[in-house]
Order: sequence, then C-alpha cells, then structure tokens
Amino acid sequence: MLDKKILKFPEDFIDQFICGDVVDVLRMIPDESVELVVTSPPYNLKNSTGNGLKDGRGGKWPNAALLNGYANHDDDMPYDEYVNWQRSCLTEMTRIIPEDGAIFYNHKWRVQAGLLQDRQDIVSGFPVRQIIIWKRNGGINFNPGYFLPTYEVIYLIAKPKFKLVSKCNAYGDIWEFGHENKNKHPAPFPLALIDRVISSTRGGVVLDPFMGSGTTALAAKTLGRHFIGIDISPEYCEMSRQRLVNPASILRTKRSQESVNQGSLFNG
Ligand SMILES: C[S@@+](CC[C@H](N)C(=O)[O-])C[C@H]1O[C@@H](n2cnc3c(N)ncnc32)[C@H](O)[C@@H]1O
Repeated sequence: MLDKKILKFPEDFIDQFICGDVVDVLRMIPDESVELVVTSPPYNLKNSTGNGLKDGRGGKWPNAALLNGYANHDDDMPYDEYVNWQRSCLTEMTRIIPEDGAIFYNHKWRVQAGLLQDRQDIVSGFPVRQIIIWKRNGGINFNPGYFLPTYEVIYLIAKPKFKLVSKCNAYGDIWEFGHENKNKHPAPFPLALIDRVISSTRGGVVLDPFMGSGTTALAAKTLGRHFIGIDISPEYCEMSRQRLVNPASILRTKRSQESVNQGSLFNG
C-alpha cells in the first residue's frame, strides 16, 4: 500500500499522487518548497457523543457515507490523539511553505457534550490570518431538535508575505458552493471551491496532503499549476489518477472555471 521508500524532492513529488501516511510523506518535503496547501482532513466525525453520525441515523450531514469512515481510516480517534495528529500535520505544512506561502485548512465546528469544538485546540499557535465560512447546502436532518447544519470553516493560515491575487479580496469571507454529488469519495470538495482558492493565490505548486479523490489536483492542473497529492488510501489514489486522465472530468472542470470567471469580479 504505502510508498515506504525515501522519496526525492522534487522529482518524486511534483504532479504525483503519493500513497502514504500524511506526516511520513510531509517530512520528506524540504523547508519552504511548496507555496500553497489546500486541504480538508478527516473530521473525526465518528468520535461523537451521540448526536452526529454515530447514532446510525446518518441524517445530520449530507454525507451519510461517512458513517463507514474512509477506505483506510475509520475517523474515530480519541479526541486528544486526533488533536495532536492534526497539530503535527499543520506543523509540517507550515514548515514547507515559504514566507509568502499559505495553507487553506478546511474543518467543521461542532458541539460535543455541550462544548463547542471550534478547533482552536488544533490551530492555536499557527499563524491563522482569517476564517472563511463555506456555506454549503444541507442534507437530510432527521433530528427535530437541531437546525440543519449548512456551513464549514476554512482557516487561512498564512506566512507574513502572503498576498492574494489583485481584486480577489472582494470575494469576501462567506463563500457559497454546493457540495459535490457526482463523486464516489465520501467527502469530496466541490471543484468550484478549490478553483476559488487556487485562482485567488499565486502558488505554482499546490499540495493537498489529504487528497481524497483528487479534486485539488484537478483544479490545480486545469489552472496551469503543479500539484502534489497525498492520501493513505490506495483506492482513493487510484481514483485521483483516473480522474486526472479522464477528458470528461477535465472538460467539466474547465467549464466550471469558465462559468466562475464569467460571473466574477473581473468582469464587473
Ligand atoms: C475529507 S477527505 C478529503 C477529500 C478531498 N478533499 C476530495 O476532494 O476528495 C480526507 C482524506 O484523508 C485521507 N486520510 C486519512 N488518514 C490519512 C493519513 N494518515 N494520511 C494520509 N491521508 C489520510 C482519507 O483517506 C480521505 O481521503
């Protein structure tokens, strides 16, 4: 399963999907060598006090598929272990971006046992510059005691010299993109969301250390950037490779990018 060998940078990384453990692989990347990281880690959703996915109704979030976890990760770590793991990942991501680099780290806030998990325990001490709210569509909520959850959070973690592409600051900090439904991965990014991130930044190499179905790579490639993808699952790495050579998915991506640009700030 795992690419256990020592990988050389850049030749074994650029425009490659690497099947392996996130921290092991990140440690093989030199300091300050990747300008942009865009990622969504597993949210540890199955480690729940009972009102979320764990109760078996699967109705609190659109992706009831996550009831089964991921192909090679069951998404059910003890809380402290999960926080330490994510902090190790962020430490490596921060190390490999240069002084003008940035990390877009997508997560979800939730309430567990009456306490807000706002992920501060994961991101504290990292240079969080801004929080973007991703307003997505909801799912079927079987629980009459809760309003339907419809947002996630994207932390922009940036080194001091990071700047957006001119005029992109006008997008504001609430972004509305529906979730992806034509994808067999249990928790894919919508392509348009990642197009927005990458096209708002200048990074020549875009890394997603939790690549899943390859959405970040597909967006990067069609925007003329290089990518690096890491995932623990051989199944998802293969899914990503197939997606990148499939002309239909590339065409769909280009069309989506064109429609985003047509309605964009640059024409208005
Ligand atoms: C939220 S999903 C990412 C989905 C992705 N954004 C997409 O568009 O398809 C998280 C991914 O993390 C991967 N993962 C879990 N544990 C991992 C580990 N230790 N190392 C690398 N990847 C891991 C899972 O296999 C899963 O595909």
